[in-house]
Amino acid sequence: MAWIAGAAGVALLAGCERTAPTAAVQFEPNWVYAYQIGQRSEQSMDQALVEVESALEELFGTPDVPKWPAVLTEDEEYADLVSMEHLMAASGNPSEPGRGLFRKHCAVCHGITGNGRGPTAALLNPYPRDFRLGKFKFKSTPIGSKPTKDDLFHTIQTGIPGTTMVKIPELTEQDIAALVDYVIYLSIRGQVERSLLFEAGELVYADGESLYDPSLKETDPEAFEEQWEIIEDYVLDEADAWVEAEDRVKEVPERDRAVVPDTTEELLARIAQGDSTILASIERGRELFLSEKASCSKCHGKEGRGDGQTNDYDDWAKEWTKKFGLDPEDEASQIPLIARGALPVRKVAPRNFEEGVFRGGSTPEALYQRIWLGIEGTPMPAAAVDPQDIWDLVNYVRSLYKPQAAGTNTSTSDQVAANARR
Ligand code: HEC
Ligand code: HEC
Repeated sequence: MAWIAGAAGVALLAGCERTAPTAAVQFEPNWVYAYQIGQRSEQSMDQALVEVESALEELFGTPDVPKWPAVLTEDEEYADLVSMEHLMAASGNPSEPGRGLFRKHCAVCHGITGNGRGPTAALLNPYPRDFRLGKFKFKSTPIGSKPTKDDLFHTIQTGIPGTTMVKIPELTEQDIAALVDYVIYLSIRGQVERSLLFEAGELVYADGESLYDPSLKETDPEAFEEQWEIIEDYVLDEADAWVEAEDRVKEVPERDRAVVPDTTEELLARIAQGDSTILASIERGRELFLSEKASCSKCHGKEGRGDGQTNDYDDWAKEWTKKFGLDPEDEASQIPLIARGALPVRKVAPRNFEEGVFRGGSTPEALYQRIWLGIEGTPMPAAAVDPQDIWDLVNYVRSLYKPQAAGTNTSTSDQVAANARR
């Protein structure tokens, strides 16, 4: 019964976000994850949720009055991660001067909580990103590392071609820097929430255990201190990963412009001229693409039309299905989770190269990065090939562009035209 009340809470909160933007806005608890942890630990998560949400508020504040955890402001190592000034500009209500950037420009898709469930989310394909899993796709660091702040800056500045996330021309560099910090803030908050819910699932509330009980401050300060330290350790773990990203950057090697032209347009022109250097590179790329070793064609199909392996899911879908033993194909098993806010699972399609749209950008360097490092959270792996050979793959993939194929996809055709011109 308690969970029916929980689900009603979801509806109520969601309703609030949509109809009354001026009322005090709240972060939405991670109902889906809490429910799954409750199922797994066979106990009610009601008390755990109360404790986790109040610990989170103590650490991170609210969408109107953000806080940055004291354990991070006290330590110089984290000084450059997120600035309070940026958090203030990005949070809050856009009707207040100098505030509300995230709610004005991003929440309609990403949700106030950054859970990828803004009012329009269910209609979009791909779904807007849920930042709470802490995984990002388009970055200069390998799978398993956070993106750098520059990576996020670039994504927000340019938008993500081929998706509904478009460039927002009115954002200044200062605004974008504030939004970068706010994405990191929401992401760390969401990951700490998950860690705390998981931790709470390990406790036995029936035996009087608790994760965060502020009344202990009076009755047993030492026990309270112990609880708070555990909570702060989770914050430090997440912050560390972000700070370390800068050291994990993989530099794309210099390219030979005679072999790898700047744009697809130039590449196609040189193919038309029968440029033998270019044709040889593309042929090497094609062989590699079809090879067992690189296995690109296994997913992208022999012609690169995205029609190889098409029955897989991304990590955001697997997270609440496969990870908890649910079959993503079994829709009925997902009803309790969809009632708590999970978006129905969709399969993830490998890119169709005939369309010539690249979400992480279509410069040769951006494509090199995607192929070399893989795309985190999706089936696209880091290529198991010699780094020098990746330029040939970049050429081959771009050579598959067919303007007429691009025209068939109305949602992305403008983007394709723009990309081809670049
Ligand atoms: C119209 C909907 C929409 C709006 C508005 C929007 N986004 Fe997105 N955003 C998306 C979608 C869809 C994706 C997922 C793309 C994908 O998974 O390939 C995404 C992904 C992202 C990512 C993840 C990038 C990565 O490397 O994985 C970040 C960061 C992001 N958005 C930030 C923002 C910020 C900040 C704003 C506001 C300035 C914003 N978005 C506005 C739809 C939107
Ligand atoms: C296991 C399946 C799989 C394999 C193997 C694979 N890919 Fe992918 N690839 C994908 C998927 C899925 C996506 C779409 C990811 C997303 O949703 O953003 C993708 C996306 C891409 C993109 C688009 C990047 C962008 O910015 O939009 C490129 C380029 C690419 N793959 C090239 C390759 C090359 C080259 C190889 C071989 C070295 C390869 N892929 C191997 C599944 C695969």
